[in-house]
Amino acid sequence: MRVVRSIAELRLALAGTARVSFVPTMGNLHDGHLSLLSLAAQAASPVVSSIFINRLQFSPSEDFDTYPRTFERDCELLEGAGCELLFAPPEFELYPQPQSYTVQPPAALANILEGQFRPGFFTGVCTVVLKLLNCVGPCVAVFGKKDYQQLLVVREMVRQLALLVEIVAGETTRAADGLALSSRNGYLNAAQRSEAPALIAELRRIAAAVQAGAGDWPALEAAALQTLERRGWRPNYVAIRRQTDLGIPHAPGKISGKEPLVVLGAATLGATRLIDNLEIPTGA
Ligand code: PAJ
Repeated sequence: MRVVRSIAELRLALAGTARVSFVPTMGNLHDGHLSLLSLAAQAASPVVSSIFINRLQFSPSEDFDTYPRTFERDCELLEGAGCELLFAPPEFELYPQPQSYTVQPPAALANILEGQFRPGFFTGVCTVVLKLLNCVGPCVAVFGKKDYQQLLVVREMVRQLALLVEIVAGETTRAADGLALSSRNGYLNAAQRSEAPALIAELRRIAAAVQAGAGDWPALEAAALQTLERRGWRPNYVAIRRQTDLGIPHAPGKISGKEPLVVLGAATLGATRLIDNLEIPTGA
């Protein structure tokens, strides 16, 4: 695997390649990232990945400085997963001056859920993703459903700005006890790590209740928030939404194949904020 640090080197390395697939990351890779690489390899080659911890998507109170940086090990994992080219620019290469042109995603999609608790987050994500797509020029880019809202925000950006790239979605990779793999899981101590699957357990409980025909969805959401609080979490939201645009379902209380649903949750355990989600099978 070749590692390039500059946009110029990257473009030179890719000159003449017609069908590139791309997996952008912030490093500290785990099996979830690697599953996206294998989807990328199935879609097109060469497979390109990037490691760039994007300051623009961190608020001043968030963990930009302490975000885990494990470059050597990441390179070994990427190489093993079939990545042919890694773009790992220093911050100055992508942001040589303050990034004053930014992508403003629509409020209806980007200021809800994660966006409500992390103002500006999706502006930071869209801006760096657009820039990375412009640098790499892939025909396919793979994003994980683990960050469900991010996937939708990126899809909509690609559609509205007519970018020439297909966005492929990868399923969430989980530990045996259900916890979604995440770079931030490393912040959890042993007691928190054993408590952490409670978040997906609540989402699973809601999905099962909705599928079984439970009608009062706000009550299901409230009960999950209460349970998490009782267990010592500080929940931000647990919400049953439409898969297509994360809007509130038209007929809450009625599951229908025409309006596929997803239940999303975010909550902080100790000092670690975890997010997860689950698509609710409609049986349709
Ligand atoms: P990062 O958190 O490193 O995630 C990179 C990609 O891996 C994202 O598409 C994310 O959804 C996916 N991913 C994370 N955990 C996963 C899991 N358990 N199973 C499957 N896929 C998983 O997301 C970002 O970086 C950044 O916001 C980025 C898109 C790179 C822009 O800076």
